[in-house]
Amino acid sequence: MHKAIVHSLPSLKMARLHRDAKTFYDEIKITSFLKRYAKGKHYYIYTHGCQANHRDSEHYAGILTKIGFKKTEDINQADLVLINTCAVRENAENKALGEIGNLKGFKAKKHLTLIVTGCMVMEEKLTNEILKTYPQVDILLGTDDIVHLPNALEEHLKTHNRIVEIHSDVFNIHERLPSLRASKFKAFVNITYGCDNFCTYCIVPYTRGRQRSRDMKDILAECKALVKAGYQEITLLGQNVDSYGLDLKRKIRFATLLDEVAKLDMPRLSFLTSHPHDFSLDIIKVMKRHKNIMPYLHLPVQAGDDRILKIMGRKYTSKEYLNIIKAVKTAMPKIAISTDIIVGFPNETEAQFRNTLKLVKAAKYDSAFTFIYSPRSGTPAAKMKDNVSYQDKVKRFKQLNELLKQQMSKNNESLINHVFPVLVDDVSKTNKTMLTGRLANNKIVNFKGNKKLVGQIVKVKINEEHIYFLMGSLVK
Ligand code: 5AD
Ligand code: SF4
Repeated sequence: MHKAIVHSLPSLKMARLHRDAKTFYDEIKITSFLKRYAKGKHYYIYTHGCQANHRDSEHYAGILTKIGFKKTEDINQADLVLINTCAVRENAENKALGEIGNLKGFKAKKHLTLIVTGCMVMEEKLTNEILKTYPQVDILLGTDDIVHLPNALEEHLKTHNRIVEIHSDVFNIHERLPSLRASKFKAFVNITYGCDNFCTYCIVPYTRGRQRSRDMKDILAECKALVKAGYQEITLLGQNVDSYGLDLKRKIRFATLLDEVAKLDMPRLSFLTSHPHDFSLDIIKVMKRHKNIMPYLHLPVQAGDDRILKIMGRKYTSKEYLNIIKAVKTAMPKIAISTDIIVGFPNETEAQFRNTLKLVKAAKYDSAFTFIYSPRSGTPAAKMKDNVSYQDKVKRFKQLNELLKQQMSKNNESLINHVFPVLVDDVSKTNKTMLTGRLANNKIVNFKGNKKLVGQIVKVKINEEHIYFLMGSLVK
């Protein structure tokens, strides 16, 4: 086995300490060695997890393209495979480990460089496991080590050693990373990196570092270029968009940023993710002011019981949360609201779970991402003793989803027979004559149409509701 050249190893503890991030504006340089190597070669990327990871993969794709690799959708054709991992729950990690495992046999048959990056490698336990039991992995890069890809690749190709470049000691902002966007009409734009909230169950602040806000002028320049290139929809991204700017010298609040971006006049503008503790009604004022801001709000509640919310470190009560929903719906009656909910947090009682059901009934969500609590080693909640059986957690999970389905279906019914603008996303995977798109409130609608319409905003009449999607017909 080749030896591992360790430039830097991860540390969950260290990641929570680093505060003074710098912004770098230098361009990535590619050596002629790498350019020669990449000629005629292909890369393949697996991406797990949230939009932040998907955006990072676009940067990896950008750098690999700049080196000279071509993208392939067929793993058999790949000379370089990059797995961008997620650590938010155990099953996400198992999926990535499965992929790494599967590539072992593949690598025995052909020469392939295997790179593993993303949140999972930021955990020392997982990186040690990969180094010990997965010799097929050639390069390990941390969440803030995208810039190191060319150097790490060159060092690996020249020495055949395994290269480890995972920094938990510094987290910065890199403004000039090359980028190959996955879509020609929908774009994600980071406004912050990392998170300062430290919800007790969550690994993100340790894997992505403390919050760093991008300078407003850099965000506006990126959005302006996207509008010029004809993008139909921009989503501003942050783990907690409402705390944008709090770490900047010149304090700017998210409502101001949103207002400035909306003025650039793209057809659709959205943002993810809002935090009930930091959400301000100024944001709703800005949403109302601009027709292009989508009437959609993702506002994770996580739980409906005040004691559980407190132990989770969420810093709001169920009443405060419902007051926000009320204010939002009063200002924008047609808005769709989605949420994230965790069931089975350590020692959650049946009565506490029922408080979550009660809140869900009151909030009348349009959609929800629901999860069974997954202990993340290194977080405070993982140290708590838990007296709830996994069986009970699954039972609660099913019960919660039954309730959500009823609500979603009821909300959807109010859309039937109405006509809405729809941004066409793609041709249906199962039926080539069908298109799939999204209403401005983010609901999915499927309808018959020509694939030429992909990327355009068309008018669709809603005919049926199927809980997770709607069926409609194109209006000429
Ligand atoms: N277990 C289960 N779900 C989690 N989430 C974050 N950490 C955990 C965990 N340890 C969920 C939260 C968050 C979403 C992205 O993932 O609901 O909002
Ligand atoms: Fe995790 Fe809480 Fe930050 Fe969201 S706000 S990323 S749940 S720590």
